[in-house]
Amino acid sequence: MFRLLSLALVAAAEVSVDHALLDDDQCAGDDTCGLNALQMKGQKMSQDSEAGWLKDISSAEKTHFKRILAPLQKPIVANYKNLEQLELFVNYTMEKVENATGSFVVWNRKSLLQEETDELATTGSRRRSTLSESEELPPRAKYVNKILIYLNKDMDAVWNYNTIVDRKRWGVGNTITSSPYGPHGEHPERWKANGTFPLPEKRPDGPVLSPANSLKMSLKANTHKYENKYATQLQQDYQSLIDNINDVAEKSDMLRARLFKMDVYAEKFQDLPSGVWNKIDAQS
Ligand SMILES: *[C@@H]1O[C@H](CO)[C@@H](O)[C@H](O)[C@H]1NC(C)=O
Ligand SMILES: *[C@@H]1O[C@H](CO)[C@@H](O)[C@H](O)[C@H]1NC(C)=O
Ligand SMILES: *[C@@H]1O[C@H](CO)[C@@H](O)[C@H](O)[C@H]1NC(C)=O
Repeated sequence: MFRLLSLALVAAAEVSVDHALLDDDQCAGDDTCGLNALQMKGQKMSQDSEAGWLKDISSAEKTHFKRILAPLQKPIVANYKNLEQLELFVNYTMEKVENATGSFVVWNRKSLLQEETDELATTGSRRRSTLSESEELPPRAKYVNKILIYLNKDMDAVWNYNTIVDRKRWGVGNTITSSPYGPHGEHPERWKANGTFPLPEKRPDGPVLSPANSLKMSLKANTHKYENKYATQLQQDYQSLIDNINDVAEKSDMLRARLFKMDVYAEKFQDLPSGVWNKIDAQS
């Protein structure tokens, strides 16, 4: 169900930014569009105010943000698609282990999740946008902020997917490590399969799974200094989003290496004689 949620988010992601961009059409060329009475008063007062917090970003700044934010959707979706390939691979490893033991690998049971979440807590550094959705913003800043919010939501879906794949990897390792007498246990004569688990037919081999390819991204943020305080804030959020995209790509690259390693343990485990102590420590 975790997965369905993230898929839905990504499907939504494909249209969300376009949607946010469309919302703008009624306001084209109209500086006061969307302003409420209070804000209009505020804008008047702050025209030459040094504090500048009430002053909206300029139309040119808004256009600039639009231009630098729109292309970020592509690398976010690419990150998601990379993870789909990684899931395909961890599924393959898991199916081999399930075939060997004749039981499902448990990877998402609540009681198991606690210690594992602690472990994961340190792996994903999720950055948050500093301007919140509920905050009162002048219209142009609000418009840019809305795009940022959509893109950050999509990034959450990507991080969730990364967590799911890592959880599956962990589940496979847990089965291997906790079956020290081989796939059929200490008393193989008493072993019985708990269902049918056909062996996967072939190792997935998409380009993402070629060790020679790196999943890393090195997006560079457009650097620009602003006088306007909202613009400065939006620039910081934009920078965080770029860092976040690069970060999840790097984490996925590391995860991929761990999946390859786990697959080697699985191959070894699969071939072990049962009834003989041969503990594989697949969690290290
Ligand atoms: C991995 O396996 C699960 C459960 O069988 C399945 O729902 C999911 O679609 C598979 N993932 C991929 C990328 O094929
Ligand atoms: C065997 O399968 C049933 C139903 O899928 C499940 O409830 C049970 O926990 C499984 N037993 C083992 C030992 O995996
Ligand atoms: C393991 O896979 C083979 C080949 O698909 C199949 O014949 C066998 O029944 C599977 N074992 C289990 C326990 O499902």
